[in-house]
Amino acid sequence: MKKIGLITSGGDSPGMNACIRAVVRTAISKGLCVTGFYRGYDGLIDNDYVELTAKSVSNIIHRGGTILKSARSPRFLSKEGKLLAVEHIKQHLLDGLIVIGGDGSFKGASALTDLYPIKVIGCPGTIDNDLVGTDYTIGYDTAINTVVDAVDKIRDTAESHDRIFVVEVMGRDAGLIALRSAIGSGAEAILIPERQGDLELLIDKIKTWRNTKSSKIIMVAEGDESGGAVNVANTIKREFPNFDVKISILGHIQRGGNPTCMERVNASLMGFYAVNALLEGKTNSMIGLINKKVSYTPFKDAVKHIDELNPVLLEVLEVLSN
Ligand code: F6P
Repeated sequence: MKKIGLITSGGDSPGMNACIRAVVRTAISKGLCVTGFYRGYDGLIDNDYVELTAKSVSNIIHRGGTILKSARSPRFLSKEGKLLAVEHIKQHLLDGLIVIGGDGSFKGASALTDLYPIKVIGCPGTIDNDLVGTDYTIGYDTAINTVVDAVDKIRDTAESHDRIFVVEVMGRDAGLIALRSAIGSGAEAILIPERQGDLELLIDKIKTWRNTKSSKIIMVAEGDESGGAVNVANTIKREFPNFDVKISILGHIQRGGNPTCMERVNASLMGFYAVNALLEGKTNSMIGLINKKVSYTPFKDAVKHIDELNPVLLEVLEVLSN
């Protein structure tokens, strides 16, 4: 193996730059060259690339976003798009490819290896933490810290006015951001896609608050069946007209910001392990960290949806929020 490609794909996440730096510097230390392609699979299709050196990745470990930029690539879903990517992979004489991204990115990687025998390793990069085969994905720790920081501020004003705040966090299919940041910020309730009937349960719970004059934080994952913070707040206002209810949708602030130290260390380990995995001949697998040890999960398993959240965390939230 002499030359590898590198892309960041799908929704960006804080820590991707730390992972890029680790891939590039580990590869160079093993005598490999690294070509970075911009905007994920779009860069492979358009042959939009940069040769990466140890120097070109200096001063990025602390920065959110990705210096390689990222994209969700509808063109790569077509056979023509994939064949163009293969043409450029051949042109650059790439022996391996490292993809930093989430489930869509790994499905794309699998499809690529069906067309061309390049070895591909994935590093889990998504704030959602919804991949099977790793305790943490790159971006999750920073995102939940961003949420907790925001809710701390919301709580100050909520408490001054005895208001209920419905805070919407990201997680199109997953409630992991909501669950952990709800525990960390002391939220009173969560609504998550992995559980049905959360809105009805919430209404029952609010009935017990009727005579309590104090602030409450309700956290709702954007993918919850209730339809998000606006719908939840409207339902509460309809059922309890005397309560003062406000909405805060945190949105893309969760995807930005300087990565936490834990994020930088995990991303560095994953980038390091990804290069070594390619050198060991591994392919079609995602690097993960489980109980602080490296793990390799086939892409087809890594992308399976996590349907059940840690029941202990759910119980802790329930017990502590009463
Ligand atoms: O996949 C990560 C994620 O941040 C989801 O939580 C969110 O639903 C989605 O990306 C938003 O993506 P986009 O920025 O492309 O709208």
